[in-house]
Amino acid sequence: MTPRSLIAGIGGYLPERVLDNDALAAAYNLDTTDDWIVERTGIRRRHLAAEGETASAMGAAAARAALDRAGLTPADVDLVIVATTTPDSAFPSTAVRVQGHLGITRGFGFDIAAACTGFVYGLGLADSLIRSGQARCALVIGSEIYSRILDWTDRGTCVLFGDGAGAVVLTATDDPAETRGILSTHLHSDGRHGEILKIEGGAGSTGGTGLLRMAGKEVFRHAVSKLAAVVDEALAANGLGHGDVRWLVPHQANLRIIEAMGRKLKLPPDRVVVTVDKHANTSAASIPLALAEADAAGKLQRGDLIVMEAIGGGLTWGAALARF
Ligand code: ACO
Repeated sequence: MTPRSLIAGIGGYLPERVLDNDALAAAYNLDTTDDWIVERTGIRRRHLAAEGETASAMGAAAARAALDRAGLTPADVDLVIVATTTPDSAFPSTAVRVQGHLGITRGFGFDIAAACTGFVYGLGLADSLIRSGQARCALVIGSEIYSRILDWTDRGTCVLFGDGAGAVVLTATDDPAETRGILSTHLHSDGRHGEILKIEGGAGSTGGTGLLRMAGKEVFRHAVSKLAAVVDEALAANGLGHGDVRWLVPHQANLRIIEAMGRKLKLPPDRVVVTVDKHANTSAASIPLALAEADAAGKLQRGDLIVMEAIGGGLTWGAALARF
């Protein structure tokens, strides 16, 4: 019997400092307005990490909340995956640092760099490792501090992002009658589009600023078509249709993209989880943060079909289907 991965708990962490659009413009001397940002993106505010705060510490805080919700402890965990493109360091990986923060001394951990699609990739990998018997209790974490890789003189990008972390605990079940859990994940990438959304330079690079660069219109052009296709791919793989979806929990980059996806799936707006207004784009953290918020609000009910989808730098994109 192949085990399946149940969603046992969800948690989130947001840094204390909150800046609305006006406060951001004032703090960084940006030539922008609240109206422009809200109209183009739906973003109203974002949380920004404090000096000295790290992706591993934020990820560990989200993980603790998810473990509490699951009624589990760090001693139960045998796999930690952190999706991040703002790691504390290239190594030790952020995941191994999270193990350290939580006092986990068994199993294994590693990071995934798939930009905003990182959490969906993480779910896919954790599910595969559970199905193959290599793990029984996995923490899948998205944790990002984009405020450290933004060009604060580029109003076209710096207004779009925020910092935060989210985590999901997956546990293995061997019950053949169980129909909940991760149904499937569908992962894609295409390196031909690497230039439209990237971090310029990095640890192994001989140049570059280490800052995020984005051709927003180009990314937008790819987003809705690729996301719609991968969601349909995921539903078809499970013999399901748009009418079966209870919750769309999309990557939170831009309200216009999110609303377009809701329309494609013919979902009423109240079944689309939206946090981009409060969190901005927290990259790999946005889906687990949105899940955590929906769960804390009591929206997610046992057996609900959840569709998660994301697109990000690479390009990478993907979808995951889960029954809560
Ligand atoms: N305030 C005021 N004006 C601005 C701002 C700002 N913050 N930013 C740009 N502008 C100006 C531009 O300078 C330009 O002015 P011009 O016409 O005088 O040259 C004008 O607004 C239009 O700029 P565009 O970039 O063409 O604006 P657009 O309508 O495309 O909106 C946006 C930009 C919001 C970034 C949009 O393209 C978008 O959402 N793209 C998708 C981004 C995304 O989803 N990324 C997801 C992945 S992120 C990741 O993976 C890390």
